[in-house]
Amino acid sequence: MNFEIKMNRIPVDELKPGMVFTRKVFGDDYELVVDANTPITSKDIDRLKKRGVKFVETAGELKEIVKIKEDVVIENSIEVDTKKLDSFYKSLVSSIESIYINYKVSKEIIPDKVQNVVDSILSKIKEVKDKNVFINLVHVSDASKYLPTHVINVTILGVLLGMEIGFPEQKIRLLATGLSLMDIGMVYIPMGILERESKLTPEEYNKIKTHTVLGYKAVVQENNFSNEVGRVCLEHHERWDGTGYPRKLEKFQISEYARIAAIVDTYEAMIRKRVYRDKMMSFEAMRTILAEGSTKFDPDILKVFTSMMSIYPVGSYVMLNTRSIAKVISSDPISPFRPVVKIVYDEFGTKVEDGETIKLSEELNLFIVKPIKEEELGKV
Ligand SMILES: [Fe+2]
Repeated sequence: MNFEIKMNRIPVDELKPGMVFTRKVFGDDYELVVDANTPITSKDIDRLKKRGVKFVETAGELKEIVKIKEDVVIENSIEVDTKKLDSFYKSLVSSIESIYINYKVSKEIIPDKVQNVVDSILSKIKEVKDKNVFINLVHVSDASKYLPTHVINVTILGVLLGMEIGFPEQKIRLLATGLSLMDIGMVYIPMGILERESKLTPEEYNKIKTHTVLGYKAVVQENNFSNEVGRVCLEHHERWDGTGYPRKLEKFQISEYARIAAIVDTYEAMIRKRVYRDKMMSFEAMRTILAEGSTKFDPDILKVFTSMMSIYPVGSYVMLNTRSIAKVISSDPISPFRPVVKIVYDEFGTKVEDGETIKLSEELNLFIVKPIKEEELGKV
């Protein structure tokens, strides 16, 4: 007997994500595209188109079209949304720069200008909603204009942290004002010390330490900001265990706002490139902070911060157990070790242009082996 299975040929152009067939669907050379009763995804269709396949074949027929969640959207949204904030971010940096320079020249801090910075950060965070976009923004900011960029990043991270803690709006505003003026005392430190290539001498380090007291004076005594705002300048280098400066305060002697500032300031300084030190990758920065956390920082605030940042922060790179390298594109607070990643190098070390997006919380056979430094990409 001569069996002939009748195959239906379907043009790839007519395939739509969510189509379910009653039998297996094959591409050219009988390569399996999708199993029976399994919805075809836009990724499957893209793959076929990229390979130039014009038709698929199935012995079955179209059963139904179901709605499916497309992973790809996540990646696009975070990177596109971060780019959209580019001019907003640059204008924040230049506002802070002008507030600091103006103070250096005239000893005056115009409250409205500070208020504007605080307002635009708050309203943008409310507008964008996805905190990962801002975490990504902080990580991709470049190293030029070190001080104003640092101040803006610290303010953004601090506001996110304040929200995560559950502060009411009024407290968030106060925190943001304090953070944006936190390092204003730095204008008194000679550029020669701030931009020193080599490590600082003890005298130079002592000089830098004075920015806390000078900042308090600038904000409270010379410009009538509240004492709470001034205490962020004065106490953001104090440490929970009493090892900070300038007054070696400890625990709750340090203002709540300054305890928040200490964490975001330390983290931000570590992920940025300084003239005398390479930037630490976000994973290392978080590990260092966690290692010191129990003694140096308020443990309750630190707990909220680490869950907010996730163990593998957005924008960092990781190696999977398949030896592929992936970029973290979204964190998952419920499973911090299983973020959403996008493959950038395959298991053979070949760069992948439009790699697969994987939700590690759903692909349990895949896991992160280790974080990868940006400089190591393509070499491992
Ligand atoms: Fe500082």
